[in-house]
This record gives sequence, structure tokens and C-alpha cells, in this order.
Amino acid sequence: MNKLFAPRLEVTFASLDDELALAEAAAAPVVAFGVPVLEAEDGSALADDLPDQVSALAQPLAPDPQLCASQGFSGKVGQVMVVLSSSGGPAAVYLGCGERDEIATEVFRRTGAALVRAAGRSGVAVFVLPAALAGPGPGAHRSAAQAVSEGAVLAAYRFSSHKTKSDSAQVERVVVAGVGLDEGAAREGVANGNRVATAVCAARDLVNEPPSSMTPRRLAEAAAQLLGPASGVTLEIWDEDRIEAERLGGLLGVARGSAEPPRLLRAQYEPPSPLTVDGRVPHIVLVGKGITFDSGGLSLKGAESMMTMKTDMSGAATVLATVSACADLGVRVRVSAIAPVTENMPGGKATKPGDVLVIRDGQTIEVLNTDAEGRLVLADGLSLAAELQPDAIIDLATLTGAAVVALGGSIAGLFGNDQALVDKVREAGSRAGEATWQLPLAKEYRSHIKSEVADMKNIGKAGQAGAIAAALLLERFVGEIPWVHIDIAGPARSDEDEGVLTKGGTGFGVRTVLELLRAYGGDPTA
Ligand code: BES
Ligand code: MN
Ligand code: ZN
Repeated sequence: MNKLFAPRLEVTFASLDDELALAEAAAAPVVAFGVPVLEAEDGSALADDLPDQVSALAQPLAPDPQLCASQGFSGKVGQVMVVLSSSGGPAAVYLGCGERDEIATEVFRRTGAALVRAAGRSGVAVFVLPAALAGPGPGAHRSAAQAVSEGAVLAAYRFSSHKTKSDSAQVERVVVAGVGLDEGAAREGVANGNRVATAVCAARDLVNEPPSSMTPRRLAEAAAQLLGPASGVTLEIWDEDRIEAERLGGLLGVARGSAEPPRLLRAQYEPPSPLTVDGRVPHIVLVGKGITFDSGGLSLKGAESMMTMKTDMSGAATVLATVSACADLGVRVRVSAIAPVTENMPGGKATKPGDVLVIRDGQTIEVLNTDAEGRLVLADGLSLAAELQPDAIIDLATLTGAAVVALGGSIAGLFGNDQALVDKVREAGSRAGEATWQLPLAKEYRSHIKSEVADMKNIGKAGQAGAIAAALLLERFVGEIPWVHIDIAGPARSDEDEGVLTKGGTGFGVRTVLELLRAYGGDPTA
């Protein structure tokens, strides 16, 4: 296996007015100096707590209004203007932040990303973060600093272990230079941003690795590497014999057509200082779809739709990466991650359309299309999750093309049997900068998955509500336990290097679930 989990861009904190600390934090030449700019007619409005001049920058901190006019820079969100230094000093990178009272966390994520992209050189970038923009109080300082850090680390992500020529240069470090920030809160924010983004990058690495080097066995090894002793997580790996002994008929049925044996991964995080709610420690079980390559099986996909199917283990990558960061982020609830992992291939022993599989909990599924394999392995995963009697189950899966048709490449489909939990997930996603949209778990369509011969069939009606039919099948395996299903078929992959996203696997869901776990049972802003 190639190098996974390479070190990422590192973000540190210093105070802008402490020249020594700033130089020390930079520890290398500063090549770019990021200055957030508010929207204004002439483009030169800075937060009012910023000085006119700082020693690290040869030019005044505010951009020249004439230059702004000629470049059409007015400080709108997303606008970036780079002014190179004639004396070899750092370039000034002006980062449009929009109107003062519309600045949300996402603006900090975007500008953190924009600075790294605009710097485009090896060295250090400084991001000036004034309290007047972050908002009042340590909570606001913490979340702004976290967002800048996340944005910077995520935009700097590269998957280059299979490239023989090096990519374009970029900064190795970002210093968040605070102005008037609560230092403890800002430092904590920066540290958390590094941790969250590092977990997202780990998920991207797992997804981006070519499918023949990220087989189920390799994914199990990679999980063991990711969840080392420092992670505070214990990992169990079930091999094919154990999987059979445990009667995971869905997973075995999908694995049958492949030369590679399946694996079932179970990870467990026990919080060192647990939260108690009504006398018990909340327990959340995460379930992730782990199809390391989806050829469709005997219901073979076409060439076009098969090209990206190494991405079909994104749910597994997300749940593993999420548990890997729980300890560092001080998550105070119990978290389990379950990932059924297999290839979906059309070998001579492959499950045939018409076959019936017996899932872990005893329910039977008629397989009419072997390309609807995700729900088969998840049926086993969710049955295992339900046996643990947790407070909530959240599954993430690149489950249906229909979800992509409905919501496109940026928004995940959200389903659930408990509206309060659905709302919690949606709100966590919105704070974390990941978009979700709820679709109905429509009782009216339960008939779509009725089977002639088994308890249910694995496809709904052709061309109708495909994402819902899949969710309705999953619902049958969680019993009464509050459950949310996130169909990430669209946002698990990006076709563009844009904002915090990089081409390929996105690690979608890691930020949402970490945000949910951090806030679970407590104050979401704490
Ligand atoms: N892994 C695919 C879903 C998918 C499609 C993910 C596009 C990402 C992008 C899933 O296993 C699948 O093939 N689903 C079928 C189900 C159908 C046969 C009922 C689909 O959506 O076409
Ligand atoms: Mn499929
Ligand atoms: Zn699939």
C-alpha cells in the first residue's frame, strides 16, 4: 500500500501584535499575508479593530482603493485579490468576506481555503483574524479560528502518492494571527480545526486509493493504522469465517462474486470523561457502507458509471475517520463504528438476480438487481448496530444514483425515523459546512419493496423514488431505535478543486458527525 495519512498542512496560532511570537510561529519565510476585507463600494473596508500598518507587510494593511476598482474587487464573499510585493516580501492576499453582519462560520472556512489556494508557493501564510469579524466572546473566537484552520488544511489536501512528478507548490503552514481574540479559545479552535480536517483528509486518502490496493483486507489494515493506540479506539476485524459464523448473509451474498474475502470492521470509542444523561452515557453507533469497488455484480454497470466506483466505500471511510478523531476532540459520548466491507464483483459464484439472502436478524431479501448491493450489506450492519441498543444509529452510504438525481453533487439526502435526531444531524451539518436535505421515509411507498418470495426485495419501482425505496429497506433493520440515514452518493466525490473540496473523495460526513458528537446531549455552541 502506498503512503496513507501523510502529514498535513499545519495551522498554528499567534497574536498579530506580538511580532516575536508571530515570527516564531511562522518558523519560515512568510510568503502570503491574508487580510479579510468587508464588502464596500471601494473594496478597501477592513474590520475596524485592525491597525493601518503591520511590520510583516511592506504595504498598508488595507488594499489600495484604485487597485480594487481596477480589479473589480469589492470584498464580496469569495473574491480574492493578490498583490505581490516588489521587495520580495509576502504577497498580500485580500479575502472578500461580504457584509459585516452576514459573516458566518462558512465564510471563515472559505477564506482559509482561499488563502492557501492563492498563496500557491512553498512557505508560510499568515491569516489575520480580527475579533471584530469573528464576533463577540470566546465561543465565536473559537469557532472562527476552527473554521479558518479547517478551510486551510482541507484546501491543501493532495493525494499524490501515485504521482511521479510533484504537484504545484503550496504553503506548508498557516499562522492564524489573532487581533483581540481570546487566546485560549482561539488556540483551541485552531487545534480542533486541525484535528477535524486531519480526519477528513484521512477519509479522503482511504477513498482515493485505487480499488485494487484498497481491497477489504487492505482497508482493514488501514483502519488498524488509523485507529492506533493513540486514538483511544479499539478495533475488531472479522474475517470471512467470523462473518459466516455471525450469519451476515447480506455481506456474504455480495462478497460471493469476488476473489477478495470480505471484512467486517467494528471500532469502539469509550470516552475518558463521559457525559451522563439520565444516569447513562449516551451511545451512538455509526454504520458505513464499505464497497471497495462496485462493478454492479452480475447486474453489471456500464463503463461510464463504473469509473468512480472505488468511491463506494466512502461511508466506511467516514465512520472510521470520525472515530479516529473522537479522543482528540474530547467527545464525551460512547461511539461505535461498524463497516461491512466487500467488493461487488460478477464472479462465477456471484449472487444471481432472483436469489434470496438471509440477513443477520433473520429477515430475508430477494436480490433482483445485484447492483443494489449497498442496502444488503447495510442490512447486516444495521442489525448489528440495533443489537447494541444504542441511543441513536447513523448510517452513511453512497447508496443510490437516485439521490444524485434528486440533490446533485453537493447535498446529501437525509432520512430518519425520529425527527428530533434528523434535525440534530441537519443542524450539525449546517454548522459544519456540509449540506443535507431531508427526504421522506414515505410509508406510501413501502409496497414498492414487496417481494413475491421473500420478506422484501432489494429494488423499488423502476424510475420512481429510488433513494426512498433504499431508505425504506434500511428502516426495516433498525427496529425502534432512533436512526438517521445519510445518502452521500452525490457529495462523497467532487469533480472540482473548489473551496474546501479537492477532486476525488471529499470525506463528506466526517465534519457533520464530529460536530454532532461534540454537541450531543449538550449545548451545541459549547
Ligand atoms: N454505489 C451505487 C450508487 C451510486 C451511484 C453511488 C452513483 C455514487 C454515484 C449503488 O450501489 C447502486 O448501484 N445503486 C443502484 C440501485 C439500483 C440498481 C436500484 C442505482 O442507484 O442505480
Ligand atoms: Mn451498486
Ligand atoms: Zn454501490
